[in-house]
Amino acid sequence: MLVFARRVSRGLSSISVHSTFASSRGRCRMGTVAHSNSHVAAKKLKDAGLLLSRALIGDKWCDAIDGRTLNVTNPATGELLTSVPFMGRKETELAITAAHEAFPAWSQKTNTERSKLLRKWFDLLIQNKEELGRLMTLEQGKPLKEALGEIVYAAGFVELYAEEAKRIYGDIIPATTQDKRIFVLRQPVGVVGAITPWNFPLAMITRKVAPALAAGCTIIVKPSEFTPLSAMAAAKLAVEAGIPAGVLNIVTGDAPQIGAALLESTRVRKITFTGSTQIGKKLMEGSAATVKKVSLELGGNAPCIIFDDANIDLAVKGALAAKYRNSGQTCVCVNRIFVQDGIYAEFAKAFALAVSQLQVGNGLDEGVTQGPLINPAAVVKVESHVEDAVAKGAKVLTGGKKHSLGRTFYEPTVLADATVDMRIFSEEVFGPVAPLIRFKDDKEAVAMANDTEFGLASYIFTENITRGWRIAEALEYGMVGLNEGLISTEVAPFGGMKQSGLGREGSKYGLDEYLEMKYLCLGNMSPP
Ligand code: SIN
Repeated sequence: MLVFARRVSRGLSSISVHSTFASSRGRCRMGTVAHSNSHVAAKKLKDAGLLLSRALIGDKWCDAIDGRTLNVTNPATGELLTSVPFMGRKETELAITAAHEAFPAWSQKTNTERSKLLRKWFDLLIQNKEELGRLMTLEQGKPLKEALGEIVYAAGFVELYAEEAKRIYGDIIPATTQDKRIFVLRQPVGVVGAITPWNFPLAMITRKVAPALAAGCTIIVKPSEFTPLSAMAAAKLAVEAGIPAGVLNIVTGDAPQIGAALLESTRVRKITFTGSTQIGKKLMEGSAATVKKVSLELGGNAPCIIFDDANIDLAVKGALAAKYRNSGQTCVCVNRIFVQDGIYAEFAKAFALAVSQLQVGNGLDEGVTQGPLINPAAVVKVESHVEDAVAKGAKVLTGGKKHSLGRTFYEPTVLADATVDMRIFSEEVFGPVAPLIRFKDDKEAVAMANDTEFGLASYIFTENITRGWRIAEALEYGMVGLNEGLISTEVAPFGGMKQSGLGREGSKYGLDEYLEMKYLCLGNMSPP
């Protein structure tokens, strides 16, 4: 059996597990959709109907078989929101059975029927945008405005794949002999296991579930133990939309046990994962025994290259968005800012000023642009990166320490004079820290930008379109933002090169990950 670290999704933390029920039964404990009894959450949520505390297996909302639960807390305050089932291997096997049993009927529906159900789910996600956004801020910490933006982004995948479901075309290939006809069919891969991270509690789920369902697959989702609530709420809306039982299952709890059960099952034909490269490699290794299809969206170390001829205002705005979105906790966040000699001082001054004006606080408070980090361990990691850089000669232009709000808050930080020997040059900081690194010419910038095992997102700022194009071609990255800091959208193919992953999510290409290609040869046709 493959052994997983607790860090199955992005970031570091300990989790608290409670054994609130002593009973242990041979099957999933059933219940009705439960509402939170958390006073705090009830006060903060307009509609507690989407704050659930049971997971979805088949047509049942379930507790863990042994009754154990997992606390979900608000990263901004440390308050308990609710608890969810701490499920493991047995519950995952039940979910695999539910998905396996649902597969024939779901895959045999017409694409138009599946499309209509996805469209209804999209409508419900949008109708419940405010509540879902609030729930996301409560469990993840991101500012409400960003959370609302994520709900629209997440729903966008559902809308897109509702449309794409109708365009899953096959092919006819001219045969080499007169008595043959060659066809290509596209068929769903089967039952899918999806493991998703805490930094985008909903978008990383719909980015996998929507194309899977559009293709005719059924799915078991294991959301991050830190942010399972958005997944559960979205699943409730999927049920309301009429997605049949067993097509979408949510299993919360023990990442190593759930992961192992998904990997070992021959009925699970595909694993899709967003998270760290370290865990992605383990999932790839674990998938080898049953030769599963694998899609991996892993770590990044994004460069942002700002040339002498860049529009400074645009570069500051772009770098700010690309670095500080979600408090620096995205895999496409800029990790290293390369600034050309001639513009270095001017950019550093303007950028540090803009960063110093970011508003740190509870994501539900008006005007806040920077929420907390996911947990105190994430702050410790950021602190260690800054300490290392400062010890090696970096200068703090703004920030550089824990925020006075304490616990999970860190000041948005800019470090000048960063160099390649600093940890921050090669490791993903996953926090609000931007190191500035000087460069002389295009060749040096490209060499430093590519000097990493990662290859997810990259950014370029220049007013010279020829230079921009040439540099974009030279960067070993799956995505390039040219004079743009916000590149994520459901309609573009998201994914990385090198150790940043395999496959693409979003766009028409994202559907291919859930489809098998079948070649059908019709032979021995008699002449007319
Ligand atoms: C991620 O950080 O994994 C995804 C970021 C995005 O979709 O923009």
